[in-house]
Amino acid sequence: MPSTPRSPKVSPNNPCPFLRALVAQGLLADDVVSLGTITSTIVKVANAGDGQPELPAAAIRAIALVANGLTPLQMARNGFGGLRLNELRNGPLDKKGAGSRILDAKAKVDPKELARLEEFASEKTDADGHAEPGLDLDELQRMMDANFERAAGHRRSIDRKLMDGEWPILLKVMGKQGKTGRYLSLKEVGELFVERRLPERMSSQLASG
Ligand code: HEM
Repeated sequence: MPSTPRSPKVSPNNPCPFLRALVAQGLLADDVVSLGTITSTIVKVANAGDGQPELPAAAIRAIALVANGLTPLQMARNGFGGLRLNELRNGPLDKKGAGSRILDAKAKVDPKELARLEEFASEKTDADGHAEPGLDLDELQRMMDANFERAAGHRRSIDRKLMDGEWPILLKVMGKQGKTGRYLSLKEVGELFVERRLPERMSSQLASG
């Protein structure tokens, strides 16, 4: 069984598994974070991944600007006051069940939905020659298409586009460079959602750098 998530606590109104892990690891505040801090933190964490992935700061800042609302007033509030991580739910980026559904509306992990990832995964071999189930980009695309498909009737057309900024970016940041390409380790994805932590190799890289 995965261990109990560590403190600090993470707001149930933060539905992003990646940001939830950064809060739980003490890298981000649970409530308000300036756009400068959120951008530099994400860029730094990404850089601790396999092969030192680089994420574009301007794109992260743009997402953070609109994440709490799309009106000019709401965007100005984020621009000057910062991103409210504990108010992302019901914001413009919330797909409300059109995603993986691993986190429910109260940010509780649904073990059935987490286990469903296995349907899309296949055996991968990591750089040390160990075999494990994982998801490469093609398999993630199939999973995202299936997520969009099953949400027919309660999805927005933009939801499928938004997914391209989630799982493929997670692959870029947390992916392992395997023998035949990059993949997300299912074990590490589970730890991200359930224990809210980054892979050990990334945490130790962050601690040393
Ligand atoms: C300012 C930066 C970010 C904001 C505001 C943000 C916000 C969100 C929100 C609101 C959701 C919920 C979407 C839904 O309803 O399914 C979400 C999901 C997600 N995000 Fe983030 N996010 C950010 C950065 C990132 C980064 C850098 C990564 C990857 C390294 C990431 C990976 C994911 C993943 C994998 C999901 C889960 C989608 C699913 O369950 O299907 N996010 N994010």
